[in-house]
Amino acid sequence: MGQAISSCCTCEQPSKAPVHCFTCADDAKINRTKVDRTAGEVVFKEKIHKNSEGKHKKCLIKGEILKDSNKSFAENLRKSLNISEQNIYDFYKIGKVVGIGEYGTVREGWSLAEDSLKVAIKILDLKEIQKTFKSICCEVSSLKQANHKNIIKLHQVFMDDKKVYLVLEYVDGVDLSDFIVDGYKLREKEVKYILQQMTSTIEYLHSIHICHRDIKLDNIMVNTDTFDIKLIDFGFSTNFSELDHLNCKCGTPYYVAPEVLKGSYGKECDMWSIGIMTYYMLTGEPPFHSDSDSKLFDSIIKDEVMYPTKVWYNISSEARDFIEKLLIKDCKKRMTAEESLEHEWLYEGDKSSSTRSDTKCESS
Ligand SMILES: Nc1ncnc2c1ncn2[C@@H]1O[C@H](COP(=O)(O)OP(=O)(O)O)[C@@H](O)[C@H]1O
Ligand SMILES: [Mg+2]
Repeated sequence: MGQAISSCCTCEQPSKAPVHCFTCADDAKINRTKVDRTAGEVVFKEKIHKNSEGKHKKCLIKGEILKDSNKSFAENLRKSLNISEQNIYDFYKIGKVVGIGEYGTVREGWSLAEDSLKVAIKILDLKEIQKTFKSICCEVSSLKQANHKNIIKLHQVFMDDKKVYLVLEYVDGVDLSDFIVDGYKLREKEVKYILQQMTSTIEYLHSIHICHRDIKLDNIMVNTDTFDIKLIDFGFSTNFSELDHLNCKCGTPYYVAPEVLKGSYGKECDMWSIGIMTYYMLTGEPPFHSDSDSKLFDSIIKDEVMYPTKVWYNISSEARDFIEKLLIKDCKKRMTAEESLEHEWLYEGDKSSSTRSDTKCESS
């Protein structure tokens, strides 16, 4: 269920998207220019840009590995992500595994500083990520740009000869996929509360020109008492521009939007995935499934979503309408994140009040 389609390809990123400068860790907006490609060597692009103080800086904005030895790969990754030479074990105690994803193992950890802050440490094997170099760059870049209560915070990045360590905010909870697979049947009001948080998170990400591209239950951590969520795993995320299309086929089969499969898409693909996860949370099954990926992709492109009465009889018409407005194959007609927050199923109370996204899910 969680298997990703492919890794992201940096070269297809839009030319006018604001990007984060890895070298000076500045949030200045840079007009991206195409990276020169030369087989067999590492290519870096230098760019002059203005930082937040208005000063011009010459920065390394993008590195791309085409074919490289392990050693220079590690060195260039360190340079590209601006990772210091410090040893993680001098700063953190690393504990037991708390999660395993397709690319990384996540362990609990504690800061050795006086506050002993508990953290989650996502550990990625350099050999493995050599194939997906762009994913780690995008993951770090997006997490550095994002600042939202429902998005995991990145504290620090370390690396040694064999591994990269992302020190993340620790989430006391489980991922939504495990929660459902372990047998918990979410009630509609719990799903609604999760969706209120998710849509406001995606509205925020899209407003800062980040498309997540791998929205799925496995990538959402939930506190099982309060149903507060945190979006994790930005390994397929990318900066986008409204003017350009993305082309890279990436994501996770059950959740992937039809336009992604066709190879030309924009931020709307995240909203399709939200439609899929909503259907899944309400019914316990994804709307499109098949025994092979190729049949599944055919079905996503051609088939209409079914709402069998024996499953849907006790689910509200508003919840169903919400999904119908997201699982529209024509992405231009699909509800945006902003519109979804105003949808009658999610919207509660006065527009001017700040309570809408702060509404807690009361347990009963
Ligand atoms: N910050 C965190 N706090 C606690 N558990 C986490 C955290 N981040 C990830 N996990 C757990 O680790 C799993 C894998 O993490 P993820 O970032 O999705 O890795 P991958 O990129 O390999 O898919 C998640 O599904 C979750 O169960
Ligand atoms: Mg994941």
